[in-house]
Amino acid sequence: MNNPVLTAIADRRSIRAYKGEQLTQEQIDAILKAARESPSAHNSQPWHFTVVQKADHLKEVNEEAHKNIDSPDLPPDIFYGAPTVVFVSCDAESRWGRLDCGIAVQTIALAAHSLGLGSVILGLPDAAFTGPRKEYFNRLFKFPAGYSFAVAIAIGIPVASKEAHPQEPDRIVFV
Ligand SMILES: Cc1cc2nc3c(=O)[nH]c(=O)nc-3n(C[C@H](O)[C@H](O)[C@H](O)COP(=O)(O)O)c2cc1C
Repeated sequence: MNNPVLTAIADRRSIRAYKGEQLTQEQIDAILKAARESPSAHNSQPWHFTVVQKADHLKEVNEEAHKNIDSPDLPPDIFYGAPTVVFVSCDAESRWGRLDCGIAVQTIALAAHSLGLGSVILGLPDAAFTGPRKEYFNRLFKFPAGYSFAVAIAIGIPVASKEAHPQEPDRIVFV
């Protein structure tokens, strides 16, 4: 079976190289509108989106993540040079909040792809928001009171793509 939604899902990739060119405001508005159309438990919408386009802010988070994560596999720039990164913070008290934010971030990934943009969902920035300077970063990114980092997504014009990920066997059963 085939249709535009299934094709977008099949063709989306995590993009880890971007042109320097910024997204248009129209693209950002369309992506955020889609994010906010995502479903959430009890329609609680326990998310908040911080759109970061200041390279200095991204550099600070990257440096802090590097201080707090001791791994040779860490990329030099955890944002891969993306011109826009959306940080999704979540109501820490919400029973399904992190799941709802995960759904919203996948909506962003698909919306970006549908506009010809690339994206990569990012868990690594978490290291800045859980480390010794977490209050500073929560303030800098204007997370609402009681909200904490859930996930981020880098978005930009892709310069490279990749193969689809192989699908693990035995992850479906019919009973
Ligand atoms: C919750 C979550 C966190 C992720 N964090 C990172 C990350 O910090 N850095 C990164 O390069 N990719 C990250 N990824 C992307 C995955 O590595 C990627 O989705 C996976 O390898 C499958 O590749 P595909 O997205 O191209 O299908 C993350 C994905 C998810 C869903």
